[in-house]
Amino acid sequence: MKLAVIYDSKSGNTLKAAEWIAEGMNRQKGAEAEIFFINEVNEEFVKEAKGVVIGGPTYASLMSPALREWLMSAGKIGLAGKLGGAFATEQYTHGGAELVIQSILMNELVFGMLIFSGGGSFGRPVIHIGPVGVNGNTEKHNDMKYYRDYFMIYGERFASKAWELFKEEEKRDHKIAPISPPQGHYIPSRENPDITYLDSLRAKYGSEVYDIDPFIEVFKTSDNSWALRAAGPNAVGDNWCYLVEGPEKALLIDNAYGIGDLKGLCEMLVEGKEVLTAVTHNHGDHSYGSLQWDEVYCHDYCADILEESLRLTEDEYRKKWDEFIDFFGTRRQFFTEEDLVPYKPFKCIHLEDHDMINLGEDYNIELIHTGGHAPGLAVFLDKKGRVLYTGDAIFESLVPGLGIGINGRRRKMDADKLLPPMLHEECLDVRYFASQLRALAKRVNEFDRCADGHGAIDSLPRVVTDLNEAIEAVLKDPHAYTDTVKTSFGTGYIMQRGIANCRYNDPDTLLD
Ligand SMILES: Cc1cc2nc3c(=O)[nH]c(=O)nc-3n(C[C@H](O)[C@H](O)[C@H](O)COP(=O)(O)O)c2cc1C
Repeated sequence: MKLAVIYDSKSGNTLKAAEWIAEGMNRQKGAEAEIFFINEVNEEFVKEAKGVVIGGPTYASLMSPALREWLMSAGKIGLAGKLGGAFATEQYTHGGAELVIQSILMNELVFGMLIFSGGGSFGRPVIHIGPVGVNGNTEKHNDMKYYRDYFMIYGERFASKAWELFKEEEKRDHKIAPISPPQGHYIPSRENPDITYLDSLRAKYGSEVYDIDPFIEVFKTSDNSWALRAAGPNAVGDNWCYLVEGPEKALLIDNAYGIGDLKGLCEMLVEGKEVLTAVTHNHGDHSYGSLQWDEVYCHDYCADILEESLRLTEDEYRKKWDEFIDFFGTRRQFFTEEDLVPYKPFKCIHLEDHDMINLGEDYNIELIHTGGHAPGLAVFLDKKGRVLYTGDAIFESLVPGLGIGINGRRRKMDADKLLPPMLHEECLDVRYFASQLRALAKRVNEFDRCADGHGAIDSLPRVVTDLNEAIEAVLKDPHAYTDTVKTSFGTGYIMQRGIANCRYNDPDTLLD
């Protein structure tokens, strides 16, 4: 839900107030607040916004002429029906700022806006018709910094009222999970580079967001399978989780970050059948949702690593989660503590390479261990549905460098980053990954579609053989990379073949 804070400011006091209001707004569920100086208003954003708060300095107990002029032409944006609020700053405790607020609110009424006043409805601090900040230019006991909390609290209250009023409309209008995909948005569609890949999927499959878990966008990819876009709470980007329904049970492959009721959503989609979960690998963006289940299927090595983290206390576990969310550039404003799945240890079911998960009758999902990106990384083959779910092992190169085929000498990188050494790290080696992929490439006629962990959900099977070729090329000469990309871990080296690519960290030491 977009919220706009529009301000006039000459010497920066009202700008500060606008920033605090937006910060407070962004603490609220569903809010995406932005501030705009009156001469630089993004009208498209304001048109889509459900709430607009307008503020300015006090000049001779009136609003500034610039703000007045802007308000005179603001009707053209179409503000009717939006929630409206006002704020002001002044130099003297009795300088007239409330008169400014009052006349802004009057303008908003004329526009047909719904007027918000925290007033008596929220209790203390009571902010009658809008927050005022008094600067410290002349009065020693005053300073803008003393008013920070008032503006933040006002922003929070405003956003929570707007969410209460407009959340149903938001979901209906956008049909997307409230978190916009930091990564997914930038993937152009194959057919039309002017629209995003996600939009092309929406056109192809349709998509739904359900109240039970508003953090997930659901694409029905066949009669018995769904791709679930789990909105990413950090810059890692969105994740794909995949639900496959068998005759008796369903399986969710990967379970994202543990925000929202993913299990409940899956059970709803398969109309009450038991839903098992499996994870391709231990990384938090694929496995933190496991807390919702009593047991989780994964490769033996992945299980060993997950069990290590289950030895942590609840506080340590949550701290690890927090660090993961914040490390990559947090997007916490889209969820609250209440949306997080409470900590509950789960049991790991250790699977070996080629073990099956049976979903009733002869409906089997085969686990195939690849290693590479994570020691226990496995892909899952839906043998009846003929789909290969590849997690972070095999990517189509919708964007150069998105593919994360191999991490190579991950341990070295981890040591640099002070991450703990990993169990079974021998499987991170490119040669191990290559040998597993070589075998998988021979089975390419067993599936019609590949679906990965962050990018494409409808890749051609050749993505596997193309990646196999890319890896063989890496083994031959790691310096023959076709591209490089900057990542949060430094430079990534990319080998591109056909529709696939892989990324690795250090061509000098990859094969040591
Ligand atoms: C022309 C002019 C008139 C002002 N009149 C008042 C006033 O009547 N009452 C008051 O408290 N402050 C008055 N001020 C001070 C500003 O309202 C105050 O410093 C405000 O915080 C400035 O906001 P800004 O830093 O966002 O530009 C006036 C300032 C100017 C430049």
